[in-house]
Amino acid sequence: MASSLATLIVSSSFFVSFILVLQLSSFPSCRADVGTAASYSAPYLPSACYGREATEFPSSNLFAAAGDGIWDNGAACGRQYLVRCISAAQPRTCIPDQSIQIKIVDYAPTATTLVLSDKAFGSLANTSAALINIEFQQV
Ligand SMILES: *[C@@H]1O[C@H](CO)[C@@H](O)[C@H](O)[C@H]1NC(C)=O
Repeated sequence: MASSLATLIVSSSFFVSFILVLQLSSFPSCRADVGTAASYSAPYLPSACYGREATEFPSSNLFAAAGDGIWDNGAACGRQYLVRCISAAQPRTCIPDQSIQIKIVDYAPTATTLVLSDKAFGSLANTSAALINIEFQQV
Protein backbone atom coordinates (compact mmCIF):
# COMPACT_ATOMS: atom_id res chain seq x y z
CA MET A 1 0.00 0.00 0.00
CA ALA A 2 2.67 2.46 1.11
CA SER A 3 4.97 1.54 -1.72
CA SER A 4 2.27 1.94 -4.37
CA LEU A 5 1.43 5.36 -2.94
CA ALA A 6 5.11 6.29 -3.20
CA THR A 7 5.16 5.05 -6.79
CA LEU A 8 2.11 7.14 -7.55
CA ILE A 9 3.70 10.27 -6.05
CA VAL A 10 7.00 9.72 -7.87
CA SER A 11 5.35 9.03 -11.20
CA SER A 12 2.93 11.95 -10.95
CA SER A 13 5.71 14.39 -10.08
CA PHE A 14 7.67 13.00 -13.02
CA PHE A 15 4.62 13.63 -15.17
CA VAL A 16 4.28 17.20 -13.89
CA SER A 17 7.93 18.00 -14.63
CA PHE A 18 7.54 16.42 -18.06
CA ILE A 19 4.61 18.76 -18.81
CA LEU A 20 6.62 21.71 -17.48
CA VAL A 21 9.56 20.91 -19.77
CA LEU A 22 7.16 20.61 -22.70
CA GLN A 23 5.67 24.03 -21.94
CA LEU A 24 9.04 25.72 -21.51
CA SER A 25 10.35 24.37 -24.79
CA SER A 26 7.28 25.03 -26.92
CA PHE A 27 6.59 28.66 -25.91
CA PRO A 28 9.45 31.01 -26.75
CA SER A 29 7.48 33.85 -25.13
CA CYS A 30 8.52 32.38 -21.77
CA ARG A 31 11.79 34.22 -22.30
CA ALA A 32 10.01 37.56 -22.79
CA ASP A 33 9.89 40.24 -20.12
CA VAL A 34 7.20 42.80 -19.47
CA GLY A 35 7.78 46.53 -19.23
CA THR A 36 6.47 49.87 -20.42
CA ALA A 37 6.95 51.98 -23.52
CA ALA A 38 6.51 55.66 -24.36
CA SER A 39 7.36 57.44 -27.61
CA TYR A 40 9.56 60.26 -28.86
CA SER A 41 9.61 62.35 -32.02
CA ALA A 42 12.19 63.79 -34.41
CA PRO A 43 14.80 65.20 -34.25
CA TYR A 44 16.31 61.82 -33.36
CA LEU A 45 19.90 63.04 -33.77
CA PRO A 46 22.28 63.31 -32.08
CA SER A 47 21.85 59.95 -30.31
CA ALA A 48 23.74 58.57 -27.33
CA CYS A 49 24.74 55.51 -29.37
CA TYR A 50 25.70 56.98 -32.73
CA GLY A 51 26.14 60.75 -32.30
CA ARG A 52 25.15 62.50 -35.52
CA GLU A 53 25.49 59.34 -37.61
CA ALA A 54 22.11 58.57 -39.19
CA THR A 55 23.29 55.50 -41.13
CA GLU A 56 23.01 53.28 -38.01
CA PHE A 57 19.27 53.96 -37.83
CA PRO A 58 17.12 51.24 -39.47
CA SER A 59 15.48 52.46 -42.68
CA SER A 60 12.19 51.02 -41.39
CA ASN A 61 12.30 53.74 -38.69
CA LEU A 62 11.55 51.04 -36.11
CA PHE A 63 13.97 52.03 -33.37
CA ALA A 64 13.99 53.06 -29.71
CA ALA A 65 15.86 54.69 -26.88
CA ALA A 66 16.66 52.35 -23.98
CA GLY A 67 15.46 53.31 -20.51
CA ASP A 68 17.57 52.81 -17.38
CA GLY A 69 16.36 49.22 -16.97
CA ILE A 70 17.98 47.93 -20.16
CA TRP A 71 20.52 50.63 -21.09
CA ASP A 72 23.30 48.51 -19.56
CA ASN A 73 25.76 51.41 -19.47
CA GLY A 74 25.67 51.69 -23.26
CA ALA A 75 25.97 47.98 -24.05
CA ALA A 76 22.33 48.13 -25.21
CA CYS A 77 23.32 50.09 -28.34
CA GLY A 78 22.51 48.05 -31.44
CA ARG A 79 20.55 45.37 -29.57
CA GLN A 80 17.34 44.26 -31.26
CA TYR A 81 14.11 43.53 -29.45
CA LEU A 82 10.82 42.00 -30.45
CA VAL A 83 8.12 44.17 -28.88
CA ARG A 84 4.40 43.58 -28.42
CA CYS A 85 1.78 45.84 -26.83
CA ILE A 86 -0.11 43.97 -24.10
CA SER A 87 -2.28 46.63 -22.46
CA ALA A 88 -2.73 50.29 -21.59
CA ALA A 89 -4.78 52.41 -19.21
CA GLN A 90 -7.35 53.00 -21.95
CA PRO A 91 -8.95 49.77 -23.28
CA ARG A 92 -8.38 48.90 -26.97
CA THR A 93 -5.20 50.99 -27.17
CA CYS A 94 -3.07 48.10 -28.46
CA ILE A 95 -3.31 47.18 -32.13
CA PRO A 96 -4.20 43.45 -31.90
CA ASP A 97 -1.63 40.79 -32.89
CA GLN A 98 1.09 43.28 -33.76
CA SER A 99 4.71 42.73 -32.90
CA ILE A 100 7.69 44.62 -34.26
CA GLN A 101 11.45 44.35 -34.12
CA ILE A 102 13.25 47.47 -33.00
CA LYS A 103 16.90 48.48 -32.67
CA ILE A 104 18.28 50.44 -29.72
CA VAL A 105 19.86 53.66 -31.00
CA ASP A 106 19.69 55.99 -28.01
CA TYR A 107 19.41 56.40 -24.24
CA ALA A 108 16.41 57.78 -22.36
CA PRO A 109 17.08 58.55 -18.68
CA THR A 110 13.75 57.16 -17.49
CA ALA A 111 12.17 54.24 -15.64
CA THR A 112 10.18 53.46 -18.81
CA THR A 113 11.72 50.36 -20.43
CA LEU A 114 11.68 51.65 -24.02
CA VAL A 115 11.04 55.02 -25.60
CA LEU A 116 9.93 54.11 -29.12
CA SER A 117 10.20 56.16 -32.30
CA ASP A 118 6.84 57.59 -33.40
CA LYS A 119 6.76 55.02 -36.20
CA ALA A 120 7.43 52.10 -33.81
CA PHE A 121 4.88 53.27 -31.22
CA GLY A 122 2.24 53.87 -33.89
CA SER A 123 2.80 50.35 -35.24
CA LEU A 124 1.82 48.89 -31.87
CA ALA A 125 -0.78 51.19 -30.39
CA ASN A 126 -3.15 54.13 -30.76
CA THR A 127 -0.84 57.15 -30.67
CA SER A 128 -3.17 59.10 -28.35
CA ALA A 129 -1.80 56.92 -25.55
CA ALA A 130 1.31 58.21 -23.77
CA LEU A 131 2.31 54.89 -22.22
CA ILE A 132 1.68 51.24 -23.02
CA ASN A 133 2.54 47.97 -21.30
CA ILE A 134 4.75 45.80 -23.47
CA GLU A 135 6.20 42.35 -23.71
CA PHE A 136 9.75 42.44 -25.07
CA GLN A 137 12.42 39.94 -25.89
CA GLN A 138 15.95 40.42 -27.17
CA VAL A 139 16.59 38.73 -30.52
C1 LIG B 1 -7.46 56.42 -30.29
O1 LIG B 1 -7.78 56.83 -28.98
C2 LIG B 1 -8.60 58.01 -28.94
C3 LIG B 1 -8.73 58.43 -27.47
O2 LIG B 1 -9.05 57.33 -26.67
C4 LIG B 1 -9.92 57.70 -29.61
O3 LIG B 1 -10.73 58.85 -29.60
C5 LIG B 1 -9.67 57.25 -31.05
O4 LIG B 1 -10.87 56.86 -31.65
C6 LIG B 1 -8.69 56.09 -31.09
N1 LIG B 1 -8.33 55.81 -32.46
C7 LIG B 1 -8.43 54.58 -32.99
C8 LIG B 1 -7.98 54.42 -34.40
O5 LIG B 1 -8.87 53.63 -32.35
